[in-house]
Amino acid sequence: MSRVVNVNLEARAYAIHIGTGCLAALPDLLPAASAALVVTDTNVEAHYGPGVVRGLEQAGWAVARCVVPAGEGSKTLDGAQTIYRAALEAGLDRRSVIVALGGGMVGDLAGFAAATFLRGVRLVQVPTSLLAMVDSSVGGKTAVNLPQGKNLVGVFYQPAVVVADLRTLDTLPEREYVSGLAEVVKYGVIWDADLFALLETRAADVLAREPALLQEVIGRCCEIKAEIVAVDERESGVRAILNFGHTLGHAVETVAGYGHWLHGEAVALGMAYAARVSIRERGFPERDAERVLALLRRLGLPVELEGPAGKLSWDRVRRAMAADKKAHRSRPTFVLAEHMGSVVFGCDVSEDGLRETFDTVRAT
Ligand SMILES: NC(=O)c1ccc[n+]([C@@H]2O[C@H](COP(=O)([O-])OP(=O)(O)OC[C@H]3O[C@@H](n4cnc5c(N)ncnc54)[C@H](O)[C@@H]3O)[C@@H](O)[C@H]2O)c1
Repeated sequence: MSRVVNVNLEARAYAIHIGTGCLAALPDLLPAASAALVVTDTNVEAHYGPGVVRGLEQAGWAVARCVVPAGEGSKTLDGAQTIYRAALEAGLDRRSVIVALGGGMVGDLAGFAAATFLRGVRLVQVPTSLLAMVDSSVGGKTAVNLPQGKNLVGVFYQPAVVVADLRTLDTLPEREYVSGLAEVVKYGVIWDADLFALLETRAADVLAREPALLQEVIGRCCEIKAEIVAVDERESGVRAILNFGHTLGHAVETVAGYGHWLHGEAVALGMAYAARVSIRERGFPERDAERVLALLRRLGLPVELEGPAGKLSWDRVRRAMAADKKAHRSRPTFVLAEHMGSVVFGCDVSEDGLRETFDTVRAT
């Protein structure tokens, strides 16, 4: 049984289907059309590509595929060009559909290509990583990276439908799965204290990928994201709270070099940092900050800079924060917690506060 979450965006409204085995129903869930380009990466292709293509062909679709190398290195303008070429060779027209089958990298890249090819063809997100299911496939942000930085070129482009088959998580490598859990914890802290408490009591089952629990947890995360996106599609206000933990997280990713940390790992560290800053700046109870750190640790996520990463210099991290595209006149702004399930965005923090708290996440 699938759970369906609706994203209420009037003319751009769509449904998110979350269930075990719902990939088999993909042909029935697609918008009416007859031609599709399935975009995926080499890892996901090996597991799910042929099955998805076969299912669509059996349902009468003309299907072409485009497989890009796995990894963030494909999320570029060249990667988009590869998709445009495949779309042209397949004879896609404006009534066709692009299916993004994969993690957030594929979703962002194929989404960007779908938004721009022929000024927009319909996009179907089929997320296969936990991060993509709870975050990147919902909300319409698409982008590619430039050599100068991540996600610097992109558009808001909502999918026509999202289909998340929990069974695909069976093949997701453990480190990727755990990294995705950071974004799940984030929803608890920013919006839903009950979700946070559920993660605390069922941490072992979450780590064991217990299907019924996953459906409940992923469904709740999608509901929260849908609710936020419905009131602030283009991040002119409250959508910014989804960046909890990302100010330091992005800076650490940049300074350590992409590939050293997975996105969720860097976000976990950033949340640990933001929770500590929140104590001094917003009166976030120490006990709740401790709960955030304890849950992250329990799930196997970092809350301190360890090993060689412990040597990251504050000056470089601070400069990377200033260069972040969300900084305002070189001043990073923060999402800070007031109590569990409630945060405020756009917070200014004193230089001393930023630096002293950084020392607490740097293992000595
Ligand atoms: N658009 C948004 O709102 C948004 C939000 C957060 C992150 N992002 C973007 O998402 C990307 C990160 O997403 P990600 O963590 O999913 O990374 P990813 O897409 O690179 O996937 C991680 C790895 O897991 C593999 N994989 C994915 N699904 C699998 C499966 N079911 N079985 C086996 N292997 C599988 C991939 O091939 C890859 O090697 C980044 O580019 C980030 O910028 C976008």
